Amino acid sequence: MTSDQMIDSQEKSTSRESTPPDSVKDRINYLTTEIDRHNYYYHTLDDPRIDDSTYDAMLRELQQLEEAWPSLRKPWSPTLRIGGKLLDSLAKKNHATPMYSLDNVFSNSEWQDFLERMAKNFEQTTQASLPIGFWCDPKLDGLAVELIYVDGILTEALTRGDGSVGEIVTDACRTISTLPLKLKGEQYPKLLTVRGEAVMYKEAFQELNKTQEALGRKLFANPRNAAAGTLRQLDLSVTKSRKLNFLAYSIGQVDWGDVPKVRLHSELMALLQSYGFLTPPGGALCATSADVLAYVEQVKEKRADYAMEIDGCVIKLDDLEAQETLAFTARAPRFAVAFKFPASQVQTKLLKIEVQV
Ligand code: IVH
Repeated sequence: MTSDQMIDSQEKSTSRESTPPDSVKDRINYLTTEIDRHNYYYHTLDDPRIDDSTYDAMLRELQQLEEAWPSLRKPWSPTLRIGGKLLDSLAKKNHATPMYSLDNVFSNSEWQDFLERMAKNFEQTTQASLPIGFWCDPKLDGLAVELIYVDGILTEALTRGDGSVGEIVTDACRTISTLPLKLKGEQYPKLLTVRGEAVMYKEAFQELNKTQEALGRKLFANPRNAAAGTLRQLDLSVTKSRKLNFLAYSIGQVDWGDVPKVRLHSELMALLQSYGFLTPPGGALCATSADVLAYVEQVKEKRADYAMEIDGCVIKLDDLEAQETLAFTARAPRFAVAFKFPASQVQTKLLKIEVQV
């Protein structure tokens, strides 16, 4: 039976949705998996394996089959990314565990002080010395988001909000092509909360402002404002049309289930990549404090070359058990810190304009 015949036979049926034939189920399964796979090649790996028209035809066919047989639509169907919906408002929800902020350091000596405090704190609590080794990555200037995956499927997305309560932005997040609706691979934690940043790359931001200008609309001040405005849009076709990316940098609540528990932050980042997430570019393990400082210097020098705005580096203790031991102050973790760069854009006051012919 062709897809058209499958849909025809459904339209003729008198019940609202009769038992679907296996051929429909198989076709929907096939298309869902295939489109998801090619979406990952195209958007996340930047390595398309089929042409656009083949992709579009598969997506259209899947859309038609799902309209005819709504109960067969997978909760991770790529058609959920299309984002045609209009929302009335954004509902709020408590984070299961708070999304903390980060303390900042601005110089090498402030970093050394932070490290000494961390080591002393650890030694006092455990009578053992701090396991040295730090995961370093760029600090992305976007909007912090938490994604909840139950048995590998995205069920909810929340903004950071005030750290305790966030806004529900699940439908908006589903429009982000680089965000997996279902984790890749065969084995997933029963529950996994992935935390990261929704960002608009500089190029997409410039394009967006060009369009805004052409349409006589208000310009966005910077990519962070544009990302926040886009994710909190109620018209999801607008959200879809503006290109956002999600980059994962840590996790919150987790029930590992059958997945072996991860012991290091560096392993966690590799695991998140294997699940299909983008992670902050150039994340690296630094064995010593001197390596950390060299890393920060190198990112600072290359700051302009990054595709997205960055405003520093984040340095996290690699050992996850030691992270748990150090835990949090009321505001921020004791095991991680943001090494901030000086602001790249400064505000100037225009005092006078002289016109000359
Ligand atoms: S790790 C336990 N890594 O910076 C803390 N945060 O100013 C986990 N941020 O709220 C955070 N880039 O939203 C981490 N590479 C990165 C980050 C990053 C940006 C944000 C994060 C946090 C804020 C603090």
